[in-house]
Amino acid sequence: MSAQVLSGKQLASEKREDMKASVQALKEKGVTPGLAVILVGEDPASQTYVRNKQKACENTGIHSELIELPETTPENELLSRIEELNRDESIDGILVQLPLPSHISEQSVIEAIAPSKDVDCFHPTNVGKMMIGEEGFLPCTPHGILVMLKESGVDIAGKHAVIIGRSNIVGKPVGQLLLNEHATVTYCHSRTPNLREMTRQADILVVAVGRYGVVGGEDIKEGAVVIDVGMNRVEGKLRGDVEFESAKEKASLITPVPGGVGPMTITMLLDNTIHSARKRS
Ligand code: GUN
Repeated sequence: MSAQVLSGKQLASEKREDMKASVQALKEKGVTPGLAVILVGEDPASQTYVRNKQKACENTGIHSELIELPETTPENELLSRIEELNRDESIDGILVQLPLPSHISEQSVIEAIAPSKDVDCFHPTNVGKMMIGEEGFLPCTPHGILVMLKESGVDIAGKHAVIIGRSNIVGKPVGQLLLNEHATVTYCHSRTPNLREMTRQADILVVAVGRYGVVGGEDIKEGAVVIDVGMNRVEGKLRGDVEFESAKEKASLITPVPGGVGPMTITMLLDNTIHSARKRS
């Protein structure tokens, strides 16, 4: 069997067409959705991610504001910039690109963002709401994954979802969203013995580790759905965490890298920003 390749790029582009219309409708009511992105330092990968987010805003008609701060910015200066943006009525979403330099506490920064503008859904208030299934922002990558699964007709209820990775950005929340959709969820991580034994039981396998080749065809049950969240540069090429060629022979559905989860992440960021802007329309 060879899997169907699930193009996030195509789905993202369809969703963004609908979003353009939503933004236009808001503009007609005098509301232009606005996203502020803060980048501290000059990490090349972060610069690329931020540029892509800005381009996506531009294409959708969302106003985006990039605030670039030097690597040496003191934490209190960053916090006061966030407070200004919290008060700025033209800004509906605030995103501080992670990771931050080591002298800045990421948690303090996340908690300084007004929950009503926390389009990443990193603030403990919003994480808590997601956990109990209350309406509000959803985290971008996990939400993008959920939309991809639903749009490709994957039945989540009752399925065994195995997540590899337990980060606050992807692993933990994607498991939570799948649990909210009635999957049975298993989390695996660096201390999990017999990882293969676990991954072979997965109907839906989400791999979010950040290392190429963590999972290959041997580790996958015939017919599983494989979601690859990795973004690794291997010998100059962009690769996921999954060894795509061998995994494709076992899976029924698989996301590629690039062109899989990545474009959906940005699309969900736009979606959160538009939702936030609607509150002032
Ligand atoms: N760094 C890597 N992924 C993300 C993300 O989704 N949001 C932010 N703010 N930083 C990131």
